[in-house]
Amino acid sequence: MSDTIEIESSEGVTTITVTRPDRLNALDTETLQALEAALRDARDTHDTRALVLTGAGEDAFVAGADIEYMSELSVEEAQAYAELGHRVTDAIETFPAPAIAAVNGYAFGGGCELALAADLRVASERAVIGQTEVGLGIVPGWGGTQRLSRIVGDEQARRLVFFAERIDAQDAHAYGLVGEVVAHDELDDRVSEMAAELAAQPAFALRSAKEALNQVHESHLTAGLRYERRLWSGLFGTADQREAMTAFVEERDPDFR
Ligand code: COA
Repeated sequence: MSDTIEIESSEGVTTITVTRPDRLNALDTETLQALEAALRDARDTHDTRALVLTGAGEDAFVAGADIEYMSELSVEEAQAYAELGHRVTDAIETFPAPAIAAVNGYAFGGGCELALAADLRVASERAVIGQTEVGLGIVPGWGGTQRLSRIVGDEQARRLVFFAERIDAQDAHAYGLVGEVVAHDELDDRVSEMAAELAAQPAFALRSAKEALNQVHESHLTAGLRYERRLWSGLFGTADQREAMTAFVEERDPDFR
């Protein structure tokens, strides 16, 4: 693993931490490549039933793409950087278990986009969030133009992007950009508690639920509803479905394997 990405796994919860605190965890190419590799490991070699993404240190989740690195990029180099960023955010969005972004501080530009690709976002009261790219003469390039408006709505997304607004955690919550705000020193505990709860759920059902919810943005309602029906009925006969429903009927706790 790289110096700037840490991965650890315990009891079904895998935590990936961007660890470049002297740059407020900004993502240069090496860090982004290491993050891509860590996501692959979390999927393939760890028994990941819930994924947590966070940043090291007290100040930042991820302060964005690395501005120093970007400052001299050619169009071709920028294209490669965007493609890498898209591969990473797609890997989070399609990760076969729920992903929680523990937004412990600054989440700007690409940092905000990482959080947007997660299923759930929990913010420290110290978090400051924004798609700040227009202020740098570019636009959000790792999925922000598409995912932000799906999460906060068209008008709010336009406001955030056009004005390169930097909003605090309470405003982010009011916008629907984060699901929950907690005291800074309670963030780790709260996210661990959520992740443990998710890891204890029937994994196949959760994965299917995520696929179906992701499908909302992929298709029109009719196709989405058809997709949901197929997924729903396909879950019948799985060990988790049988055990969950039998346990309910027998008035006992389920024992998921
Ligand atoms: N890329 C590269 N380096 C970054 C960075 C980024 N996105 N964000 C912060 N850094 C670096 C700073 O250059 C500084 O390096 P230095 O110590 O060598 O001077 C270090 O991280 C600490 O940042 P600093 O600006 O001194 O901290 P601060 O507390 O005064 O301000 C921010 C923090 C996050 C408000 C400010 O750094 C900032 O606005 N960063 C850019 C955020 C952004 O627009 N990101 C989107 C990029 S697409």
